[in-house]
Amino acid sequence: MKRISLTQYLVEEQRLHNSIPAELRLLIEVVARACKTISHAVSKGALGEVLGSAGSENVQGEVQKKLDVLSNEILLEANEWGGHLAAMASEEMETIHPIPNRYPKGEYMLLFDPLDGSSNIDVNVSIGTIFSVLKAPEGMKEPSEKDFLQPGVKQVAAGYAVYGPQTVLVLTTGDGVNCFTLDREMGSWVLTQRDMQIPAETKEYAINASNARHWYPPVKRYIDELQSGDTGPRGKNFNMRWIASMVADVHRILNRGGIFMYPADAREPDKPGKLRLMYEANPMAFIVEQAGGAATNGKQRILDIQPQKLHERVAVFLGSKNEVERVTGYHNE
Ligand code: AHG
Ligand code: MN
Ligand code: MN
Repeated sequence: MKRISLTQYLVEEQRLHNSIPAELRLLIEVVARACKTISHAVSKGALGEVLGSAGSENVQGEVQKKLDVLSNEILLEANEWGGHLAAMASEEMETIHPIPNRYPKGEYMLLFDPLDGSSNIDVNVSIGTIFSVLKAPEGMKEPSEKDFLQPGVKQVAAGYAVYGPQTVLVLTTGDGVNCFTLDREMGSWVLTQRDMQIPAETKEYAINASNARHWYPPVKRYIDELQSGDTGPRGKNFNMRWIASMVADVHRILNRGGIFMYPADAREPDKPGKLRLMYEANPMAFIVEQAGGAATNGKQRILDIQPQKLHERVAVFLGSKNEVERVTGYHNE
């Protein structure tokens, strides 16, 4: 098998589609390198003293794990000096992180969830990193939070890494979705899946069913129908999977179809869901759409939402097109 590295892939994509200029290529390579470093730390586990709580809270009021903090630092440090970025933002930082004055600045802005699936860190279940790339608005001088508040359709690239039995990197720059596997001996990312496509039909769904009593009627109805199986209105049996790491659930869906849901519910009516729009839902929605799937908040396409706040939350329904359209239809009835 001829091995194509991430670098070769990016260079050839630029030649073919003119979609990855040198600065964006550098950005993607730097993020990929940071993910390699995070993967290495994750795989050390207790031996690397990276498990457990950091003893602090992030802006969302969640207890930070050591790996949340470490992964955030790895991504910040890796991306500061290259000259490709104007600013960064992260789940783990209250406000944006402008590039320090000692470094040149570039035209891109990077958002990330440095460590997705934190509750799985200490139990050796797959976790990951999610990232989204935007362009700085024309004429921007000092970057501010406002400059980040662009709808997901404006993303120029998005990706995620999964630190699981294998470490993989899934990437889109708007020309389909490709997957790279980390060759640990060589230290390089190798292209292992081209043009991933989510099957439109599926028999698998993912939702945290412990919240069922709080669900709103459209979600209740949809899940009831799935659960009533071949004797219900759907006329077929469905299987359920919930990993509690969005990266791992989405990766399964990209490979064999399915629908992933984190709806808003009646527990906290003011909260439009648990997941964050700008560094979880948007990059995943971009990837899923590029792989032929769909992503909505139950009412509208996620990528069309105009963000109001950096850490804004959103309801998420994504994956196989027919299922996402059905549950979205129930909300809009
Ligand atoms: P994070 O670890 O970045 O805070 O994200 C966790 C998210 C997402 O990855 C996952 O699908 C979901 O939270 C799990 O939620 P439950 O705890 O309700 O299972
Ligand atoms: Mn997350
Ligand atoms: Mn996280």
